[in-house]
Amino acid sequence: METQKLFNIEDFNIKLDTDYLGRNFVYCEEIDSTNSFLMKNEEFKENGTVLTSEFQTHGRGRLERTWISNKGQNLLFSILLNKDINPQNINIYNLGASLAIGETLENLYQIKPEMKWPNDVLVGRKKIAGVLCESVMQGSKIKKLIIGIGINVNQVNFAGEYFIRPTSIRAEIRKKVNRERLLSEFLNIFEETIELLKEEPAKALDAWREKCKLIGEKIWIREGKQEWFGIFKDINSKGYLLLDVGNEVKTITNGDLIIKK
Ligand code: BTN
Repeated sequence: METQKLFNIEDFNIKLDTDYLGRNFVYCEEIDSTNSFLMKNEEFKENGTVLTSEFQTHGRGRLERTWISNKGQNLLFSILLNKDINPQNINIYNLGASLAIGETLENLYQIKPEMKWPNDVLVGRKKIAGVLCESVMQGSKIKKLIIGIGINVNQVNFAGEYFIRPTSIRAEIRKKVNRERLLSEFLNIFEETIELLKEEPAKALDAWREKCKLIGEKIWIREGKQEWFGIFKDINSKGYLLLDVGNEVKTITNGDLIIKK
């Protein structure tokens, strides 16, 4: 007898309207990390492959953090891209993925998310989703780019320590959310965003800027043991943060943005 899957692939497929994103769809109940699997494994080669799991034993976040998520309640998935990726532009995929998550939440649930540089999607200063982009190079070319995404969907209790307080779509709208519809809508939107990132990256960055309410604000940046205080001036064409520290404008490529009130 076939056991009932938590995620209904047929429901997901009905609403998927992409050319390549998610057309090779791989589902599993448990894995160490969908990102780690696609990074190490050569089994999947198709551009746009999506690997999703109900649970991760070693879910990873940015800056060596862990990503913890209850089984079967949220969306944990990674996308494999290996076609026409400009290595100079790899960082803007972080911003593009966050932007597409934001647009999906607006379209489906009328939530107004904000972008927090570089990869967080916040609702009311709480984190609803995160993105982890990792790449494998072959010479000077990108062999593969893995875009890992965690969206807090139906989980409402978050035990443990979090760098940013979490929330979920269900906690925000007070209704159970259909994960299949959410994932297909996200992929529909993200496929268009990927094309925009390739053809007109400046437009994609403008759309991200519009959803980032921290530009112009006083912020802290922590990178390893170093901290800088300044005004979040802008992002540049590579998606790096420009921090006005008074006597100079620093280009921040990595690190945490901290809002202190
Ligand atoms: C972050 O906010 O720091 C990024 C979180 C990314 C989590 C996702 S869940 C699916 C994929 N697999 C992982 O191990 N991490 C990403």
